[in-house]
Amino acid sequence: MTLILGLETSCDETAAAVVRDGRFVLSNIVASQHELHERYRGVVPEIASRAHLERITPVVHESLAGASLHWNDLSAIAVGNRPGLIGSLLVGVSAAKALAWSLGIPIIGVDHVQAHLHAAALQDGAAPVPPPTFPALGLVVSGGHTSLYHVASPLSMHAIGRTIDDAIGEAYDKAAVILGVPYPGGPKLDKLAQTGNLKHHRFPRSLLEENSLDFSFSGLKTALLYKVRGVPRGRGAEAVFEKSLADLSETDRANLAASFQDAAVETIIIKMTRALDRMADGGTPARSIIVGGGVSANSRLRERVTQLGTTRDLPVHLPAMSFCVDNAAMIAGLAYHHLVEGKADDLHLPAVATTSLR
Ligand code: KG4
Ligand code: ZN
Repeated sequence: MTLILGLETSCDETAAAVVRDGRFVLSNIVASQHELHERYRGVVPEIASRAHLERITPVVHESLAGASLHWNDLSAIAVGNRPGLIGSLLVGVSAAKALAWSLGIPIIGVDHVQAHLHAAALQDGAAPVPPPTFPALGLVVSGGHTSLYHVASPLSMHAIGRTIDDAIGEAYDKAAVILGVPYPGGPKLDKLAQTGNLKHHRFPRSLLEENSLDFSFSGLKTALLYKVRGVPRGRGAEAVFEKSLADLSETDRANLAASFQDAAVETIIIKMTRALDRMADGGTPARSIIVGGGVSANSRLRERVTQLGTTRDLPVHLPAMSFCVDNAAMIAGLAYHHLVEGKADDLHLPAVATTSLR
């Protein structure tokens, strides 16, 4: 039995979790910092790293107690060491080194983006969660990423498509500001969209070149802004908008949110369809679809990806809601595969702002 304690501090969640044999979650503690960043409508890196420092020790203790374990039961310490805010990553990496050194057990650095694609394989209750079959088409949708991956195994994947401007989560968060939806924007916009008519407006689906697997969401965001405020006279700080958000009724806002959501999600589904065709044409047809990242909690995306799986006769692996947002269970779970392949790190493990995935 392999018991791994995982730590995650890459952005604004301080998290620790214990996972058995890469899949079975014994505890999953996430201390969110939303209340600290709310007034700035976005994550302030310096505030985030200070809050991680205050929270990491109690969160680790809680995760061990939640799993009813003692320090000596642990097989290894895992930490998300890339990508992320460098000051935030350093807190998790330093804590992981201190624990691994004092317990005399291996330390394993895990790529946060790769870990998001492991979240759907995690099981935290009695209901069995089937592990994905490979090769798989992977989709990571978060505040920092919108990427498609050819996934050959949990540790072997390469990017086949990525956003050329905003990530989908970022687009959601900016759309939320445009529509006056409070922070955190993504989940609240999703809720508002569920009360609106998604066919009320037809927003652009940015597909780029024929056959491109890349994404672009900045045009969609601007289209929403112009729909809400009108086309501005002048540019930049001089821009004068003819309309204001206050001119919209609750129903108008809901219809705009639903139509925005429909366009954003449909774009992703079109690219996933192309990616499945591309994998089949290349002689390695996907045997499953794996989705991960904060936006995998989105109701419309979950519905449409599930439909896509049915149409293509492929199993779809979506994370349980508690494993969509940043968490440490996905870090500890993926670290098991590193350990099995003999890929442990040492105390020189760096914190790195960028992903290792290409
Ligand atoms: O994976 P994550 O927790 O952090 C990053 O690694 O970026 O993703 C956070 C992002 C945020 O942009 C948040 O607004 C978005 O995921 N998000 C959602 C939903 N839940 C979280 N976006 C749309 N619909 C949701 N239900
Ligand atoms: Zn994330």
